[in-house]
Amino acid sequence: MQELLNRHISVDYIRNISERIGHAFVGTGEATGIGHAHGKAILIGEHTVVHGAPAIAIPLPAMPVRAVARPYLPDTDSDVTSDKSFGFVAGLADTKFSPSGPRVAVEEALRQWGLGAHPVRITVDCDIPFARGLGSSAAITSAAVRAVADLYGRRLDTAALYDFVQCGEQIAHGRASGVDARAVLATGPIWFYQGAARAVTTELDAALVIADTGMPGVTERAVTGVSRLADRDPVFIQRLVDHASGLVHVAANDLAAGDAESLGHTMSDFQRILVSLGVSTPSIDLLVSTALGAGAFGAKLTGAGMGGCVVALTSTATAGAVSRALRRVDALRTWTVDTRGRHLSTWPASTLGHGGRQ
Ligand code: PMV
Repeated sequence: MQELLNRHISVDYIRNISERIGHAFVGTGEATGIGHAHGKAILIGEHTVVHGAPAIAIPLPAMPVRAVARPYLPDTDSDVTSDKSFGFVAGLADTKFSPSGPRVAVEEALRQWGLGAHPVRITVDCDIPFARGLGSSAAITSAAVRAVADLYGRRLDTAALYDFVQCGEQIAHGRASGVDARAVLATGPIWFYQGAARAVTTELDAALVIADTGMPGVTERAVTGVSRLADRDPVFIQRLVDHASGLVHVAANDLAAGDAESLGHTMSDFQRILVSLGVSTPSIDLLVSTALGAGAFGAKLTGAGMGGCVVALTSTATAGAVSRALRRVDALRTWTVDTRGRHLSTWPASTLGHGGRQ
């Protein structure tokens, strides 16, 4: 009961009481709101989705993010920062920090909810490795906005949450399609097209091995690079986008039909598009060719590329061999999930940290 009071009514309640007895509301430090989201992997369609093609993404519930929001109390708050936990303040008029996606989204939510004068401190616990194309920025932003809605008892429907997260994602990506904002809240694979998502049905009995190159990807740089290419050569990009769109439709049919071999080929074809967009790297190429050599049906980078992760489609029986082969060529870690995103295994076992190579 005390927890319910703390979490759901105490801030508005205390403000109300304070105002009635003539005291300015300053917050109690006790009230908290909580929000959750999780990682994602793009199965097919990254980059071309920004330019109008569809994409298919898989949620990764085994990589959760939890955000806790509290009213900001000057001088009493301190951040405990580790490789997966950190804090930030949103809503202070005067701040030395440059805007981050999560902060911009939370500030937009506070403004729209008439809470612009009530800064909040958000503490984040994130099991998604940062800058690996697995959706950490959209998931942190979603969890943070949900935590603030919970703190102040604000209704937050899917459409409003998506709009707030997109405010933040424009900062993180430069130009964000919205696929991450949808996928980090999804409960199964999604088909994403021009802002809207619908569930993708699949009974495909196969595994996805996700392998980390250990190199951070910079989404904003990769997205900007492709946009520059589009400005310079719109005909070339349009041809790629049309081709990409066809491949994403084929992939959806493969998922529905349970055809792993065809889906693998389609993913590898899509990797050729990503190579021609200039977002692959030698480490990605090595992991892709290693996965194929170890028996994967197909492999490609996932997310923005220029670092980050590779995703390989394998039979359930070969997933272990593919994962071991990827580690032998220096994959920093691997995660194996089924085609609905359900966790099967990770290597090393405690791998949800944020290590990396520079
Ligand atoms: O690297 P990530 O997880 O931020 O994925 C970006 C996906 C892109 O298609 C490259 C950008 C976008 O907004 O769709």
